[in-house]
Amino acid sequence: MEAKKRTKIIDVLGSTSVGTQVLVKGWVRTFRNNQFIALNDGSTINNIQGVVDFTTTDEKILKRITTGACISITGEVVESKGKGQSVEIKVDQLEILGDADADKYPLQPKRHSLEFLREIAHLRVRTNTFSAIYRMRHAMIFAVHKFFTEKGFFNIHTPIITGSDAEGAGEMFKVTNLDLENLPKTVEGHIDFKEDFFGKETNLTVSGQLEVETACMALSEVYTFGPTFRAENSNTSRHLAEFWMIEPEMAFYDINDNMDLAEEFLKYLTNYALDNCKDDLEFLNNRAVEEDKQKPQQERAEMTLLERLKFVVENDFVRLTYTEAIDILKNSKPNKKKKFQYLINEWGADLQSEHERYLVEKHFKKPVILCDYPKDIKAFYMRLNEDGKTVAAMDVLFPGIGEIIGGAQREERYDVLKGKIEKMGIPEEDLWWYMDLRKFGSAPHSGFGLGFERLMLFVTGMGNIRDVIPFPRTPDNAEF
Ligand code: 4AD
Ligand code: MG
Repeated sequence: MEAKKRTKIIDVLGSTSVGTQVLVKGWVRTFRNNQFIALNDGSTINNIQGVVDFTTTDEKILKRITTGACISITGEVVESKGKGQSVEIKVDQLEILGDADADKYPLQPKRHSLEFLREIAHLRVRTNTFSAIYRMRHAMIFAVHKFFTEKGFFNIHTPIITGSDAEGAGEMFKVTNLDLENLPKTVEGHIDFKEDFFGKETNLTVSGQLEVETACMALSEVYTFGPTFRAENSNTSRHLAEFWMIEPEMAFYDINDNMDLAEEFLKYLTNYALDNCKDDLEFLNNRAVEEDKQKPQQERAEMTLLERLKFVVENDFVRLTYTEAIDILKNSKPNKKKKFQYLINEWGADLQSEHERYLVEKHFKKPVILCDYPKDIKAFYMRLNEDGKTVAAMDVLFPGIGEIIGGAQREERYDVLKGKIEKMGIPEEDLWWYMDLRKFGSAPHSGFGLGFERLMLFVTGMGNIRDVIPFPRTPDNAEF
């Protein structure tokens, strides 16, 4: 019987239906000995082997079965004699859907550098590494929604274009449709944003937190998961100008409840990856092991990717205050030997990623949740502690990554918040609606932000954030 409906490769490989006819479509990874096609359709990291009979196949067709070409094959599923696969397809019909000129197609069946692949981001998803990462991104997005749904949280869409620039989380990108060659001016000579599309100055959001707090004051437990934008000139392997952030916000949670939720969430996501992304994780694990072998002994990872993920699921995170962390850092070897770029001399210093990584990777060798930071180095909305010096902030620090989550218990007391924004020079008019939440039925509440790409760095074991998002946006780079 003729197979008319396409079967996905994952289903052919997973089936026990040896002897059936299937129709499979995908892209050629390799074609060996004029006979063996390794075909992939992205449904799984594994290829199906199609075996063509070159004695009966048109030579012109055989020549067009090249790496990157898109083809359709029909044939019987048979047990495979080759090693590495259980079944293969004995091809009796083959159609070329899209040729890929072998002289011009940039991806060859060999190892390409990640830097080179970034230049061809429109094609890199056709490699094992990137298809594994894209599939895992999907799995983790799903896991985020599953976690919160199971806990009774509601997903809220917060605006991407924002009229509020008070968050202070980072430099913002302006949104305008004014004619940049001919800007309207006020009598004082400033740009007249009244003439702009929204009748005021607007930006791309750096965080959905302030808006999601409004929903929290009615639905109790909510979260937003959207794109966020920061115009900082940070050319690091941990920063993007456009990234996705998950921000839960919970009424009636104090900072300890907030820490508990953050830890539970990260463990849930990691566990989800271990349970649901086995083939992709195994591939990425082996990839990282191979890469590690190229490095000098002292730079090699102490654990493999899979070991790291299991370690995070199985161990409690360390919790300590900023003040305790400063003591550890002050007395640390790299501080005494002046090895840190920024030396820790006194309480109040902002922690740099070198300090965070020292705590996590050298001192505790575990994820760490730091809390109770000096109020002067944290955002205006964080709740002032009894000591009057610190706020109920928390950062979750991860090995190899540094800060993966930032959050806080929010200042719910109108007078305290008002005093704070006055001191920081934030006009109350800009935040009138946010202040209203403290006037009408205010409640203790907390929340945090998880950088989705930082999570992806952790679960994939990749070293550069540009490789865990399909089209990275970084300074001087917005190709595609
Ligand atoms: O610590 P941040 O700036 O916190 C906030 O924006 C709060 N409004 C969150 C909240 O409480 N609802 O950012 C949160 C997380 C960081 O811990 C980090 O994981 C990620 O967002 N992040 C970035 N990820 C990639 N590229 C960047 N430029 C990032 N900046 C922050
Ligand atoms: Mg932060």
